[in-house]
Amino acid sequence: MKPRVYVAKHFSKEVISYIENYCECEVWEGEGEISREELLEKIEDKNGVILTSIKIDKEFLDRAPNLKVVSNMSVGYDNFDLDIMKSRNIIGTNTPEVLDNSVADLVFGLMLSSARRIVECDKYLREGKWKSQYDESYYGIDVYGKTLGIIGMGRIGEAIAKRAKFGFDMNVFYHNRSRKLETEGNLGVKYLDLQELLKRSDFVVLMTPLTRETYRLMGADEFRVMKETAIFINASRGQTVDEKALIEALKSGQIRAAGLDVYEKEPIDINNELINLNNVVILPHLGSATFETRNSMAKLSSENMVKALIGERVPNIVKELKE
Ligand code: DGY
Repeated sequence: MKPRVYVAKHFSKEVISYIENYCECEVWEGEGEISREELLEKIEDKNGVILTSIKIDKEFLDRAPNLKVVSNMSVGYDNFDLDIMKSRNIIGTNTPEVLDNSVADLVFGLMLSSARRIVECDKYLREGKWKSQYDESYYGIDVYGKTLGIIGMGRIGEAIAKRAKFGFDMNVFYHNRSRKLETEGNLGVKYLDLQELLKRSDFVVLMTPLTRETYRLMGADEFRVMKETAIFINASRGQTVDEKALIEALKSGQIRAAGLDVYEKEPIDINNELINLNNVVILPHLGSATFETRNSMAKLSSENMVKALIGERVPNIVKELKE
C-alpha cells in the first residue's frame, strides 16, 4: 500500500503527479493558506505532510499518530517543536539553497525602495501630484558605496553580501554566531560584534533564523545604537525584532527608515502602527515568492517527503533532527 500524504499547498500538476507516483495524495484546494484547524482534520491518517509555518507541536503530532515526515516548504523551520519531533522520531525537512537568490533580490528591493522612497513616491504620483525639481522633501539617500551590516551570514547573507560588494560597491560588515573565514576571504566582508556593526552601518539587514537566542535580538537598546540616518531591513522572521521598539525608533527618528517582509504576528494586524508610517516599506512575507523559486521549493519539498517515505536518503533533514 502506498503511503498517505497531505499537501497543504497549491502545487503544479507536474509536482503532484510526481508525488502520486509514490503516495496516495490529498491536496488543499481551498483559497489562500490552509488554517491549522483545517489541517488538523486532514492529517489523522497521513504518513507525510507538506506545509509552511503551521506549528508542529504535541497537539499536531497527537492528531497524526501515523506521521513520519513533515516537509516544510521554506528554509526557516521555527514552526518545528524540535524536542517533541525528536522524541517521536519525526523526520523534519526544509528547502534550503533554492531560494537564496530570490530572498537576496528582495532584500535589495527593500533597501532600494526604502532608501529612494519608491513606494512613498509611487503613492504621491497616483494622488495626481508631481514633485518640483528642487523639492528636497522627496529626496532619498544613496545605496551605492554605503556601509552594509548583515546580521546572520548564512547562504542568504552571502548572496546579499555579493550583490552589495560587486553590484553596489558597498563596504560590508557581518555578525554571525561563528566567523566565516572563507566568506571573508572570498567576498572581502569583515566580522564585527553586534554593537559595532550597528554603530557603523548605514543599512542593517537582519537575516538570522529565529531561535531561542535570536528572539527579539533587535530591541530598543539596539535601535538606539544605530545611526539616525540608518535603514533597518528584516527578511528573517518577525519575532527576531521587538516590533514596538522598532515602531518607536521609526516614529522618533532614531533611525531613518525600515523595509520589512516579516512581522511579529502574521498575517499583520490591520491596526498595526507600521501600516501608517511613511518611513517603512512593508511586504506580506514574500521573500521567496517568484514563480521560479516557488516551483523549485515545491519540487524540493516533495522530494524530501517522498524520499523519507520510500526509505531513500533524505537530502534536507534539518540539522537538529539528524541522527
Ligand atoms: C523561508 O523560506 O523561510 C522564507 O521566509 C521565505 O520567504
